[in-house]
Amino acid sequence: MIQTEPASLDEYLAEQQQLVDRALDVWLPAEDVPPFSIHKAMRYSVFAGGKRIRPILAIAAARAVSDSPNGIENAAATLEMVHTYSLIHDDLPAMDNDDLRRGRPTCHKVFGDALAILAGDALCTLAFEVLSRLREIGPESKIKLIEDLGRASGTVGGMIAGQVHDIEGENRMPSAPLLEQIHRAKTGALLRASVRMGAIYGGATAEELESLTDYGERVGLAFQIVDDILDVEQTSEKLGKTAGKDQEQQKITFPAVFGLECSRRMAEQERLNAHVALRDFDDRADRLRQLADLIVQRQT
Ligand code: IPE
Ligand code: IPE
Ligand code: MG
Ligand code: MG
Ligand code: MG
Repeated sequence: MIQTEPASLDEYLAEQQQLVDRALDVWLPAEDVPPFSIHKAMRYSVFAGGKRIRPILAIAAARAVSDSPNGIENAAATLEMVHTYSLIHDDLPAMDNDDLRRGRPTCHKVFGDALAILAGDALCTLAFEVLSRLREIGPESKIKLIEDLGRASGTVGGMIAGQVHDIEGENRMPSAPLLEQIHRAKTGALLRASVRMGAIYGGATAEELESLTDYGERVGLAFQIVDDILDVEQTSEKLGKTAGKDQEQQKITFPAVFGLECSRRMAEQERLNAHVALRDFDDRADRLRQLADLIVQRQT
């Protein structure tokens, strides 16, 4: 099927968000499925909004290597499940203790700590169930996706490792090596996996996968640099989450280590590096190029 690309980036993003949301709606048990409370809590956080950057990166990466990665939105949705789980847990009183997320009271504020913990757990396990049930790709690719998502979420260089470093870094002297260790893992790993999983789904060659992994690392790091900058510069209303939280909790962030000006330059450098990583790709990678720009220039 020949698809005409939508004209503007905004239209493209809205269309991809809808695609991902439809897939999430299919896979998440309905609110009238017992036990009702957990499904309400999962849906509350997943459908609270969110930019859907990770699934959109996965879809764009698949399209950079394949003309018709049928069903990619299902694999992409699993990234949003793991991401939302990580946010629900990140906001818990025992972690960042946040009241506001995606413009709404946090999951634990509405459903209580126990259900919020379980909703996070459930989204995590659902992601792997969905990957195992994908229909359009063979078992070998599926196993690679499961491995990538597991590693990226895990305790060795993955999201959980990053969260541990982040929490244990509170009140410690901010330093560049500590910062790099935290950020590459806590946010970078899942963003890198988003690009890789899309590429694997689309049947990327080894060379393509290598370049896209490089791209994913660059945008992953840029993403967290910008998250840290926005925490300083933006309002809670605009962000839909509590601004100024990092300084209050003495987090090791890019602005804390390098200052705002230098952090901005570093994000810009990663944006340029992301473009370089895509140099051997044709215009099928244009959405990835635009997404690298968006990740650095975004205001929310
Ligand atoms: C916020 O992620 C948390 C980080 C990992 C930095 P996003 O900025 O992607 O949050 P949503 O999904 O749009 O709410
Ligand atoms: C969270 O990082 C990263 C996750 C793994 C969820 P932050 O603590 O900086 O995320 P925000 O700023 O609360 O969204
Ligand atoms: Mg945190
Ligand atoms: Mg937080
Ligand atoms: Mg943050």
